[in-house]
Amino acid sequence: MIIAVDGPAASGKGTIARALAQHYGLPHLDTGLLYRAVAATVLREELDPAREADAVSACSFEDYLLDDPWLRSDEVGRAASVVSAHPLVRAALLNRQKKFARQPGGAVLDGRDIGTVIAPDADVKLFVKATPMIRAQRRHLELRKHGVLTSLDKVLADIRARDERDSKRTEAPMAQASDAALLDTSFLSIDAAVQRAIAIVESKTNATRASG
Ligand code: CDP
Ligand code: CDP
Repeated sequence: MIIAVDGPAASGKGTIARALAQHYGLPHLDTGLLYRAVAATVLREELDPAREADAVSACSFEDYLLDDPWLRSDEVGRAASVVSAHPLVRAALLNRQKKFARQPGGAVLDGRDIGTVIAPDADVKLFVKATPMIRAQRRHLELRKHGVLTSLDKVLADIRARDERDSKRTEAPMAQASDAALLDTSFLSIDAAVQRAIAIVESKTNATRASG
């Protein structure tokens, strides 16, 4: 079973994807981390994220980099959204993600283009969303927990800028696949959102079984 989970920053897609992977005993890939690893490499080597050639040269990073806590920072997230718009960067990371999705037994992947590009044949597709203000409040809280003091307005502006870049780029823009179920987590607790996601997976797989 392949489960594709897409959505914008702080919509809750990562939390939901991890919970689904645990519930169904499937391996999970946070594909945003791959773009973050490219971005972190570009920044560390003092290259320019906006230059495609610079970003491409950072695509063969070592796997241990994926565990670096710096990858989760807003600075790297912003640069990730810039490097991810380059078609050659997306092409360089494509096979790794497709291979992960197609491993025997299945997988859960979360990102922006899983249901549309990486695994268009996924058994279940979820598009997770929440209002920009609620996503900004979640990120703001996370940052505060990590001792990063910044204003809610700035976090909201960052979220909006990233949404704009991710949904307007020409190559694999963030989009809800036509056959994806929409899950709005704006007013759901984490537990409630996860329960809703499991219910969607169950109804999809039951429907497939009934028709097959
Ligand atoms: O966790 P958050 O949603 O803030 O970000 P992320 O999923 O770690 O992704 C960081 C950036 O990588 C996004 O803003 C996208 O530009 C890019 N990305 C992408 O283009 N395609 C994906 N499948 C995953 C992430
Ligand atoms: O992966 P993505 O960036 O979409 O979001 P996430 O990392 O799963 O969630 C972002 C933050 O929102 C985390 O601190 C979650 O605990 C929180 N969250 C929440 O408050 N309510 C939800 N229904 C889902 C996530």
